[in-house]
Amino acid sequence: MKILVATEKPFAAAAVNGIRGIVEGAGHQLALLEKYTEKSQLLQAVSDVDAMIVRSDKVTAEVIAAAPNLKIVVRAGAGYDNLDLAACSERGIVAMNTPGQNSNAVAELALAMMIFMSRNQFTPGTGVEIKGKKVGIQAYGNVGRLVAEKAKVLGMEVMAFDPFVPAEKMIEDGVTPAESLEQMYEQCNYISLHIPAIPATIGSINYNLVSRMPKNGCLVNTARKEVINEAELEKVLTDRPDLKYVTDVAAVHQADLDAKFPKQVFATPKKMGAETAEANINAGLAAAQQICDYFATGCTKFQLNK
Ligand code: 3PG
Repeated sequence: MKILVATEKPFAAAAVNGIRGIVEGAGHQLALLEKYTEKSQLLQAVSDVDAMIVRSDKVTAEVIAAAPNLKIVVRAGAGYDNLDLAACSERGIVAMNTPGQNSNAVAELALAMMIFMSRNQFTPGTGVEIKGKKVGIQAYGNVGRLVAEKAKVLGMEVMAFDPFVPAEKMIEDGVTPAESLEQMYEQCNYISLHIPAIPATIGSINYNLVSRMPKNGCLVNTARKEVINEAELEKVLTDRPDLKYVTDVAAVHQADLDAKFPKQVFATPKKMGAETAEANINAGLAAAQQICDYFATGCTKFQLNK
């Protein structure tokens, strides 16, 4: 089988070597399309492949139509809003992700961002410590749990809101379950977003929520830009010059936000939450193994479009 790694943002070399070892070791062929800049390059590359591994690369109906032999696509990572699952299902293509494999890298970045904003973006001046402050985790999944665990070690109080996780589980972890999102925003100095971009969450981080944060509150987004209501975020930052927004997923109008709120807002130049050697290796190798297992045994663990 021919397995394509299509990554606009490439994996570390060690991860690519590991993927090659797994793919070739199982008797398959590896093809690489890295740092591509045009959609046409992706459409060309998929024309004869049986499987593909992607990161945030968009696997649209057009890409699927250009890949007549495609049987399985694995998103090496957690969020799969870049995969057209309906188009995959229509063609009988198995779609998977690799949950948990890059979570630690994202959790470390979320905490680093809290400290960075609390120390005036590493510019001169008096900052504040995160010790003794309260962080609210919005979605207590793989990343949210790791942020909670690390925040506690740093002396923070942790609250979480997740309608899909029982309160007992949070209490067991030493985390206070929030009764509502509103309550969490009202009580927490930092809010760390770990929600996926799905219809229920898109545009949901709005004026009503963010304006509830206490004085000098900081919203941290290592999730997806789509969950933010950008116009309302701009309004709340205007009305509340004490609030801060730090993000690893730049807004559509990020340049405007940067220009208008240089002290309140910071965005990484390119999404870097999962950009560690470890996360690349964990997610890349897991993706390769999942594809080889699927071809060898039909294993569909982690299938998203069942
Ligand atoms: C994920 O959903 O796994 C993260 O957002 C990482 O995305 P990336 O592979 O594009 O860095």
